[in-house]
Parts: sequence; structure tokens; C-alpha cells
Amino acid sequence: MDVSVRHVPSCQIETCLATITSVFCSAFRRVDRVNVENLIQAEVQQGHHYLVAIADGQIHGFVSWAMRYEPRHQIAELVHIGTNPYGPRGLGRPLIAAMEADIRDFFQDRSLSGIRMIYILTHADNPPAHNLYERCGYKHAATIPSFFRAGMDEYMFTKHFE
Ligand SMILES: CC(C)(COP(=O)(O)OP(=O)(O)OC[C@H]1O[C@@H](n2cnc3c(N)ncnc32)[C@H](O)[C@@H]1OP(=O)(O)O)[C@@H](O)C(=O)NCCC(=O)NCCS
Repeated sequence: MDVSVRHVPSCQIETCLATITSVFCSAFRRVDRVNVENLIQAEVQQGHHYLVAIADGQIHGFVSWAMRYEPRHQIAELVHIGTNPYGPRGLGRPLIAAMEADIRDFFQDRSLSGIRMIYILTHADNPPAHNLYERCGYKHAATIPSFFRAGMDEYMFTKHFE
């Protein structure tokens, strides 16, 4: 299967908003499509970056990331990643590899002295995501109790680049 991952410039997000929203809703089992669309648009306006995975000529996955804290801290967060549950498998790894390259380019282009750490927050009850992150070199660094809502713990995964 031929898979390519490309960065969607913020000025082009509208052209694939509907498709990213569909993949997002399928991956996360969301039915509030309008909220998801608004969320993506708001995040892009705040400076989040979206990349899409294309297989068989169609978008079947996406990943988004954001720079966190101050540039001098050299930290980015993988904010969302999702693949079409009815589409091809094997998109998670190329999405994360392309995201890391995108983050490196971003920090280099702006003379931000490179990326030092990427982190991810993921629900404690999401082993497929944990496996993916571990396969990509991320380590379970902390468990944060009741983070997004009471009784739902988050795992923080981190990867250091220096
Ligand atoms: C997590 C997700 C992005 C993985 O995408 P994917 O295309 O299946 O990933 P890949 O096929 O590249 O798999 C990479 C690794 O992920 C792990 N993995 C993927 N699906 C898995 C599953 N159902 N069960 C256990 N591990 C799984 C495996 O370790 C796999 O490596 P391996 O095949 O060498 O064992 C996808 O399952 C998804 O969209 N999940 C719903 C949304 C979500 O939970 N996102 C993360 C929120 S933080």
C-alpha cells in the first residue's frame, strides 16, 4: 500500500476540513460533527499543525501537534491522532514519523534551537495508542489521575531528542 503523509498549510485547512472531521469522528466515535469541525478550525487558528495520511488517493488518517510553553523550552505536544477504522492499517507510524520531521523543520526554520521533547497525553484505557507510541520510541513518563474528567486517568508519553 502506498502511503504518503503531508502537512496541510493553515490556509488550506478548509479544503480538507470535511474529510479530517469524518476521520476524527470515526476514530474517536464522535457524533457531534459540528463541534469537531469547530474544534479543528479553532486549533488551526491557535497555531496547531495538521498532517494527513493519504492511502489509495484518500485521506485515511491525521495527526495534529502544537508548540507548547515558550520557544526556549523546545517542547511540542502531539494533540490528536486518528485513523479511519474502516480504512487501511499501518498509518499510525508514518503519521508520527512525519509529525516529528515537521516539528524538527518548524523549530529549525525559526532558529528555535531544535526540538528537545515531544509529549502526548492519552487515556489510560487506550492500549492501541500506548502500543503505537511505544513502537515509535515514546516512554510512559507519568500517570495523571482524573485529568480530562473525574475517574479518567491520563498517561503522559514523552520522547526526548537530545
Ligand atoms: C491509535 C491509532 C492512531 C493507531 O493507528 P494504526 O494505523 O492502527 O497504527 P499502525 O497500524 O501504524 O500500528 C502501529 C502500532 O500501534 C499498535 N496498535 C495499533 N492498533 C492496535 C490495536 N487494535 N491493538 C493493539 N495495538 C495496536 C501496534 O503496536 C502497532 O504496531 P505493530 O503492528 O507492529 O504491533 C488508531 O488505532 C486510532 O485512530 N485509534 C482511535 C483514536 C485514538 O485513540 N487516538 C489516540 C488518542 S491519544
